[in-house]
Amino acid sequence: MTAVFIDDGLRRTGEPEFVVNTLNDLAIKVKYIDATEEFFQALKGKRDAEEKRKAFREKFYKTLGKVAREEKVKFIAQGTIMADIVETVKGIKTQHNVLEQIGINPAIYGYSILEPLKELYKPEVRMVARELGLPTEISERMPFPGPALSIRVLGEVTPQKIEIVRKATEIVEKETKNLGTFQNFAVLHNDKATGIKKGERVYGNIITIRTVVSEDAVTAKAKRVPYEILEKITKRITNEIPSVVRCLYDITHKPPATIEFE
Ligand code: XMP
Repeated sequence: MTAVFIDDGLRRTGEPEFVVNTLNDLAIKVKYIDATEEFFQALKGKRDAEEKRKAFREKFYKTLGKVAREEKVKFIAQGTIMADIVETVKGIKTQHNVLEQIGINPAIYGYSILEPLKELYKPEVRMVARELGLPTEISERMPFPGPALSIRVLGEVTPQKIEIVRKATEIVEKETKNLGTFQNFAVLHNDKATGIKKGERVYGNIITIRTVVSEDAVTAKAKRVPYEILEKITKRITNEIPSVVRCLYDITHKPPATIEFE
């Protein structure tokens, strides 16, 4: 088996290192592929959520195709779970890791796909991880979408916008880590708003903070986060990220919202 980590430049702070090191500690050698430029190129000019998701999916499977050819492998194993398939088949959103279930034959990318977890929902996936003795940082890890920060930058993705949402995500995750929530994150809006920094007008960025409670991601409730925590996050984000002038908190449950914005 060859483990592959594709660095798309869209991960959270320190995530590539964390994944590679954690797998190395489990005696799994990881092939690290830097595809940052290619992913940004693939997403360039795409504004619509589904268009972005499909562009990400295409680049993801094509990059794997290149690896498959180099390594001469016929099978790619991936961690698609039931919730991914259900949402994609229903047409709610195109999850990056669903192909055959919507009639796309992975042979077009040069390999077959194995999906050992595809009949399980998140709580059962965690049970498998615990049973296998994986470290708790893995078995209890907060879910994170395949297209990563690209779907948390509303509208067109640029390296600069990814930097902003990456920093905001780091702050939100740190300040909410003891809430026992399912997912905590930041979203960068496409719109701007007026603010004041150092006595001067700034037409700056807007960040939404989202933290949700859920079992399996099929439904979710916005968490009633203590106001002091929201205030601290807002203060940190607007202080530490110069272009951000405003933070909002999303109180919408799923449904009618989804967990992610795109
Ligand atoms: P939504 O936003 O549909 O998300 O309520 C449900 C759960 O799925 C995650 N998510 C994804 N996971 N590929 C993934 O592997 C994707 O394309 C994708 N999109 C959303 C999301 O973070 C939440 O946990």
